[in-house]
Amino acid sequence: MAENVLLRLEGITKTFGGIVALESVDFEVRAGEVHALIGENGAGKSTLMKIATGVHQADRGRLLWKGRVVRLHTPRDAHRLGIRMVPQEPALVPQLSAGENIFLGCLPHRGGLFSWVRWKEAHERARALLRELGHDLDPTRPVSELSVAEQQLVEIARALAFEAELLILDEPTSPLSEHETERLFQVIARLKARGIGVIYITHRMREIYRIADRVTVLRDGRHVLTRPIAETTPEELVRAMVGRELKEHLPARGPRMIGEPILRVERLTAPGRFYDITLSVRGGEIVGLAGLVGAGRTELVEAIFGAREYTSGTIRIAGRPVTIRTPVDAVRHGLALVTDDRKTKGLILTASVHTNIILSVHPRIARLGLFVDARAERQLTERLIRELRVKTPSADHPVMLLSGGNQQKVVLARWLATTPRIFLLDEPTRGIDVGAKAEIYEWIRRLADQGAAILLVSSELEELRRLADRILVMHRGRIVGELSREEATDDRILYLATGGGA
Ligand SMILES: Nc1ncnc2c1ncn2[C@@H]1O[C@H](COP(=O)(O)OP(=O)(O)OP(=O)(O)O)[C@@H](O)[C@H]1O
Ligand SMILES: [Mg+2]
Repeated sequence: MAENVLLRLEGITKTFGGIVALESVDFEVRAGEVHALIGENGAGKSTLMKIATGVHQADRGRLLWKGRVVRLHTPRDAHRLGIRMVPQEPALVPQLSAGENIFLGCLPHRGGLFSWVRWKEAHERARALLRELGHDLDPTRPVSELSVAEQQLVEIARALAFEAELLILDEPTSPLSEHETERLFQVIARLKARGIGVIYITHRMREIYRIADRVTVLRDGRHVLTRPIAETTPEELVRAMVGRELKEHLPARGPRMIGEPILRVERLTAPGRFYDITLSVRGGEIVGLAGLVGAGRTELVEAIFGAREYTSGTIRIAGRPVTIRTPVDAVRHGLALVTDDRKTKGLILTASVHTNIILSVHPRIARLGLFVDARAERQLTERLIRELRVKTPSADHPVMLLSGGNQQKVVLARWLATTPRIFLLDEPTRGIDVGAKAEIYEWIRRLADQGAAILLVSSELEELRRLADRILVMHRGRIVGELSREEATDDRILYLATGGGA
């Protein structure tokens, strides 16, 4: 065994009430290495990492830390060894400063029985840590004012303050813009240089090739391969993950922008969030909305959907001005909003997959005065589960027990089961694996081909380029440019998104 192995997991098996999440999995990570852990939704990545951090205990198998067998009963046990997970949703105390959060639980004290915390020193040390990570974030700023990317940085600095030797990042870039992603990669490079081991979970192939040294693929709870990244190809990794070939390229779509716009937004303004937004989407058209996180894209689509207020401007549907004050109004006007915020906006977590999908179809059927055809519903659910490759033991399984990506697939499935005319898609494929992404892209295309108007917010430039007929770019709440499919290179989009054109 190489002497620089930090953590080794051997023969890990884990079942949840009869469902095998992991079966005899081996995995190791070395000091100073970035080890990518990849696989389809539900493959067992998060579960394996929960075992490595003491959140779950394996049914069988063992853990070795620097060659010695260890038992992790709680996350504290893992922390003590130097194993830390950077949570996907940063779990910081919003009222405290960045520096206070970094040292929470290990603040520099002045000795003695009545020792007190030396905030000034804490902030100075925090500043130094952040600088080591290549950032000049002011540690006295309250966390509530920080962006998600900055909060993530605080979490990483916090791990360093606790002298972590192994950091686990589970899809860290999904809430980040491309620019912030690039900065995170620089931080990871610095961690590596310090000899810290990094386990990196992602669904984005490009990221693996950008930062990983080795890669491990899981499929259906089993270990498929571990290899130096230089000895792999993306095609081979995809095949290892999904166990089949994928259709890579969508056929080109012809121009189809004829007739009146179905959705038109005129001079929509919500001060502090977005200003003077004018845009239109025709039937059959997919319009991309690019921008950095915080550019106001989510706020804009939420306002169009009636989930957020705006102070002035007009929304027209098929030429007629409409008043949309609540999401119920929006649905009545044929709008659908699909977001990745599965906990709050999409799902009834305790209900089954079937119920969640069918819920959006029911009122419609009832209104038409038709009786509910339970068999047809069942078939629809089964079809969506199959086509989107939702990994669930059955349609009756509670959504709560699915992996993150599979929950997002259910969010999509429920909207695909209805027939809105206008789709507002906000990061629809966040957290979704490569195999299912291809299917979802095809679904979105098909909806457009059937005449739906689609407004697509995405931080993945590749997704925008593959789907959108044209791309609008937002910067600080304003639309600062429009690019045709041909003009939309990554560089051009980023130039506009970072305020280059303003
Ligand atoms: N607490 C739990 N109870 C029951 N089943 C669970 C639980 N946690 C995970 N599972 C199941 O274990 C399997 C692996 O899930 P896991 O979350 O590890 O997948 P993942 O690879 O992280 O997927 P994703 O890419 O979607 O995040 C899935 O089938 C999931 O439904
Ligand atoms: Mg997961």
